[in-house]
Amino acid sequence: MDVSLTRNFCIIAHVDHGKTTLSDRLLEHTRTVTQRVLTAQHLDAMDLERERGITIKSHPVMMVYNAQDGHAYKLNLMDTPGHVDFSYEVSRSLAACEGALLLIDAAQGVEAQTVANAHLAFAQGLKVIPVINKIDLPSADLDMCTTQLEDILMIPAEDAILASGKSGIGIVDILEAVVKQVPPPRWHNHPHTRALVFDSIYDAYRGVIAHARVFSGSLKAGTQLQLMSTNTKSDIKEVGIFTPKMTKVPELAAGDVGYIVSTIKDTAEIKTGDTITTAIRPATEMLPGYKEVRPMVFCGIYPLESSDYEKLKAALGRLRLNDAAFVYQSESSLALGFGFRCGFLGLLHMEIIQERVRREHDVEIISTYPSVVYHVYQHGKDMLQVDNPVMLPDPGTIDEIREPTIQAAIHIPNTSMGDIMSLVMEKRGTIDNTDTLDATRVMLTCTLPLNEILVDFNDRLKSITRGYGSMDYELGEYKAGDLVKMEILINGEPVDAFSSIVHREKAPGKGKDLCEKLADIIPPQMFKVAVQAAVGGNIVARDNVRVMRKDVTAKCYGGDISRKRKLLDKQKEGKKKMKQIGRVSIPPDAFIQVLKN
Ligand code: GTP
Repeated sequence: MDVSLTRNFCIIAHVDHGKTTLSDRLLEHTRTVTQRVLTAQHLDAMDLERERGITIKSHPVMMVYNAQDGHAYKLNLMDTPGHVDFSYEVSRSLAACEGALLLIDAAQGVEAQTVANAHLAFAQGLKVIPVINKIDLPSADLDMCTTQLEDILMIPAEDAILASGKSGIGIVDILEAVVKQVPPPRWHNHPHTRALVFDSIYDAYRGVIAHARVFSGSLKAGTQLQLMSTNTKSDIKEVGIFTPKMTKVPELAAGDVGYIVSTIKDTAEIKTGDTITTAIRPATEMLPGYKEVRPMVFCGIYPLESSDYEKLKAALGRLRLNDAAFVYQSESSLALGFGFRCGFLGLLHMEIIQERVRREHDVEIISTYPSVVYHVYQHGKDMLQVDNPVMLPDPGTIDEIREPTIQAAIHIPNTSMGDIMSLVMEKRGTIDNTDTLDATRVMLTCTLPLNEILVDFNDRLKSITRGYGSMDYELGEYKAGDLVKMEILINGEPVDAFSSIVHREKAPGKGKDLCEKLADIIPPQMFKVAVQAAVGGNIVARDNVRVMRKDVTAKCYGGDISRKRKLLDKQKEGKKKMKQIGRVSIPPDAFIQVLKN
């Protein structure tokens, strides 16, 4: 097919603005899939995605559209993940397109990720086509949407297409706009073969399957590819397209979006954003925008039953095969036994992996508090990266600790302004800018330490704004802070699973919370046991575990010996599982209870 009859585009939107539903309508209209197959939403393939209503991985699909101008166009639709944790994946999917449909929920209007995604699309030089979606909703407010389009995104209101993925309104208008407004594939005249990798998945039989957009030249089975970031070479075994199922084709040519199966077995070797060229006549210049993604959030993951260790190890190994952004290595903890230190792109990524371990691999796990990666500077030594508080060197040797910050754009109703400003202050943030979006909404631009938004920031933002607030962020600089390691001591012994790096001023408050919880959950002991929070040898908070008074067999009056024995056996059984912290025996459950809360 003539490259001038190909259009590559994607749909970008804030979470829940109806991307998947609309994509399905486009597939149905072009008869790419029949309605019967579409009963379940098609592009969100993973169960977990469907359940949480979020798109995690991008699934491209090719459609053929018979346009009103009489030509049959090849349309490649890329689905993009909507969440900030995956913004690099979004940017690579965008880089594989020439145009983007920018969806706006007619009842919600422009939200934080609408703006963030629109900017990403503009930055890639894409033609952005605004679509006001869900116009079937009684609460649809078209005036609000068009005003916001002009004021916030500088897009002329008359360009907007009115649509409803649910009732099928505006579908032909959208397809015609894609054909007429999205430019045909760019850079197809480049003298060498260049293809952009925007995703890769692992298949047990075929190894790594790379998803790629070919910009120039062609890729065929039987030839050898070369990855430009590492110069790795590999034999191509098969190339194909998504219809939406994987369908083998003789070659992928300029403008095409498809998959490549090669001899590569590890997803980590084919990185998102890398450029594929041919080994026989390699290109000299990569496609723009390649970046190494690094995990930003770390936590320990442990099996609830220590006998599940091998099962957990196998589960993490398998998840890793499909997700090059997830990393792990083994570690052990006094309180939790043997487990793994795991790194993620962000909080949602962390939750998804934990959930998949539980569900798909059937291993019950417990995870420690999430931590960011700190940069530790010591006199005369190289900078040390610390993602686990336990590994922080002796405070006396540290000149400075720096922590990662984020630049956040927070969209909120005016009425929540005061409360959100207090929340930002409480989280050690600064407000750099306040922009009025329209009569009812403002956008705050803030700098916040990443560590402070890990736990409850988003939940509190949602609850203060009754669900109307939204946030998007990008990583900012590392900044020095008065950061210290806080340890939790039980009867004077530190319990590693509860160590954390905190801002000095926050240590007493956080310490008090933890001590209270632990003192409450640890069962009564034979003697007085203190639970303390300590920073560099100073106790900043403390509490006491209750003292035990009763003998478990006391109420058996010596009569029923078998019952007495049973109780004693049960106690022995319990003891076996106890964790010994100094002279104190603690059921492992206690730690889990505290970590769960
Ligand atoms: P993410 O993958 O989380 O970004 O969501 P999405 O943008 O793919 O949204 P999705 O298509 O899953 O739709 C979100 C919700 O809006 C679902 O409950 C849909 O049923 C509903 N919805 C989608 N399109 C329409 C529409 O045109 N009209 C109405 N009334 N509801 C819609």
